[in-house]
Amino acid sequence: MIETVTELAELRARIIEWKRAGLRVGFVPTMGNLHAGHHSLVALARARADRVVASVFVNPTQFGPDEDYARYPRTLQADADGLQAAGCDLLWLPSVETMYPFGPAATVQVRVPGVSGVLEGAHRPGHFDGVATVVARLFNQVQPDVAAFGRKDYQQLAVVRYLVSDLAFPLELLAGETLREGDGLAMSSRNQYLSAQERPRAAEIRRTLEAMRDAARQGRAPAAVEAEAAQRLTAAGFQVDYAALRRPDLGEVRGTAGEESGRVALIAARLGRTRLIDNLEFSV
Ligand code: PAF
Repeated sequence: MIETVTELAELRARIIEWKRAGLRVGFVPTMGNLHAGHHSLVALARARADRVVASVFVNPTQFGPDEDYARYPRTLQADADGLQAAGCDLLWLPSVETMYPFGPAATVQVRVPGVSGVLEGAHRPGHFDGVATVVARLFNQVQPDVAAFGRKDYQQLAVVRYLVSDLAFPLELLAGETLREGDGLAMSSRNQYLSAQERPRAAEIRRTLEAMRDAARQGRAPAAVEAEAAQRLTAAGFQVDYAALRRPDLGEVRGTAGEESGRVALIAARLGRTRLIDNLEFSV
């Protein structure tokens, strides 16, 4: 059984013991319902640290009022088994009371300006404030030397990068590649909500991202690339929140001479009740 800790004092004691022994601590924050993508983040952290801590905490402050906090799958035993098999040393399992001693509504909030407000942030107001707040707390609790986040949540990674840099957290951020199913669908805890009819259609997101990349490389205007992607997804039965072509910093592509060639295409769309996000990084 993987060592599981639910009290902050216990976690601190273990981290202090490791640090006194000169060991580097790696960290993988999660909301549970883990899949191979999370396990690959443990492996990534493991390669840069002597001990790896993973947290499982379904964070209420990053869910909007109409979102799926209550229905978010809690699969603790399977998560613990998977983490152990992946080489994780310790599972940090805080309660809501431990994470937010004054209650989620009365917590000190961390808000990353700019990047939190666009795309996901525009469609899920307050989401990234909840993410930044909990990630800052988790970093204070675990005191990691390295922390691993997935590239699938491209904008979350940008928010965390800003947070680490601006608040000078003394840690190295690692970005893990997105793991995909055979048909290209990005692995996600939300995929299990897809019905048998929806599941094959979900791979259209990846195909649309590739079409966006190809169109951008052919020199099509960003607005046309985005409009075509949205039409394609709508025709496939999705309700599209956004299909966006951006610079790596998520700024608008201006198409001016001398602009750097990095691009990222990002999609958020609903298939039935399931909201899926994915992205593709490329250069033009
Ligand atoms: O990506 C997630 O699972 C969550 O947003 C995170 C980073 C664990 C914060 O709750």
